[in-house]
Amino acid sequence: MRVLVTAASKHGATEEIGHAVVEELDRRGIVADFLTPEAVKSVTEYDAVVIGSAVYAGHWLKPATDLVEAHADDLRSRRGVWLFSSGPVGEPEPKPEGDPADIDELVAATSAKDHVVFGGRIKRDELGFAERAIVRALRVADGDHRDWVAIDAWAGTIAASLVASGV
Ligand SMILES: Cc1cc2nc3c(=O)[nH]c(=O)nc-3n(C[C@H](O)[C@H](O)[C@H](O)COP(=O)(O)O)c2cc1C
Repeated sequence: MRVLVTAASKHGATEEIGHAVVEELDRRGIVADFLTPEAVKSVTEYDAVVIGSAVYAGHWLKPATDLVEAHADDLRSRRGVWLFSSGPVGEPEPKPEGDPADIDELVAATSAKDHVVFGGRIKRDELGFAERAIVRALRVADGDHRDWVAIDAWAGTIAASLVASGV
């Protein structure tokens, strides 16, 4: 049994969630590889695939949607596909918030078993000029809203589902 974990990330925060998913699967005895979406040439050697993306302006990043588009048939024939988005930043009200605009299509294209949204991270000094202007306009403060306990728990449900499916 082998699981592919891939995540599209502009500034690294979502990629780190992908690595945390790999580590939790590994702790539960499931072999998992992390690849960036651009590095994925095929998914057919994997039993299951976890695909994530940072959310920008309400959408997944293009490398993640390109991956789904290019491998949709093969993804649907895996034993399981799980999707995650990472974006909401800010307290007490997460902002921006909500599911990415295209998530229903992505779930349908992959026959994903689940889609979850995890908080994201803002580090102003890593952002480009235009990004900083948007963050300023939205009055979003620097902060890391990734909930590692929730991320590990979610990866645990993936492991449990794969074990239950008898792979
Ligand atoms: C310019 C900009 C636009 C963003 N737009 C959204 C958005 O529409 N929805 C959302 O939930 N998060 C949004 N975010 C928050 C990011 O998704 C969050 O910072 C995420 O952790 C970034 O991940 P990355 O470091 O992997 O690129 C935005 C962040 C920036 C800088």
